Amino acid sequence: MYVLTTSLNGRDNGCIVRDVMVIDSDQKKICLCIKKSYLSCCMINRSKKFNLSITNGENEDLVQRFGMVSGKAVDKFEGFRAFKRADNGVPYITKNTDGYMSVDVDQVIDLGTHAIFIGKVTDEDSFVVYKCKVCGHQHYGWLDDDFKCPVCSSGRDAFERV
Ligand SMILES: Cc1cc2nc3c(=O)[nH]c(=O)nc-3n(C[C@H](O)[C@H](O)[C@H](O)COP(=O)(O)O)c2cc1C
Repeated sequence: MYVLTTSLNGRDNGCIVRDVMVIDSDQKKICLCIKKSYLSCCMINRSKKFNLSITNGENEDLVQRFGMVSGKAVDKFEGFRAFKRADNGVPYITKNTDGYMSVDVDQVIDLGTHAIFIGKVTDEDSFVVYKCKVCGHQHYGWLDDDFKCPVCSSGRDAFERV
């Protein structure tokens, strides 16, 4: 589950999206589907950019704030402090999330009630810390499949989440 955040003309908004699909891992392209009547959809259609914050297990507060009411009715960022702004100017969520990615939209497919957005990941960061069980080295961020410990050369399997 993700918190999708957008900004347009100084206004921030966000909604919950359940599924994001990687459609080209070489070009770092992803796609997701949003209902066209949602404010987030209208904003992305115009700004052509958004961030996806990857939620971890504890996300009831995020669902309540971003997934149960439309930004057409409320300002979801009012009184909300658990965010920072990425280089693309769009907020990302810093509490109960494992990381985020910034996406530039390059294709929109109108499907009727919903639209599919296809975009390229331009930036990403992980807040997750892994520890090497062999030597204790701590790694901050994603672990690629071919990751090797820079201290003892152990493979990805030797790392556990802190
Ligand atoms: C767990 C969960 C998953 C959701 N997944 C999606 C989704 O994939 N696509 C979508 O359009 N809406 C999804 N929603 C609904 C929107 O997040 C919700 O309607 C939101 O309030 C829209 O806000 P907005 O009008 O400010 O954009 C989901 C909601 C929840 C609670």
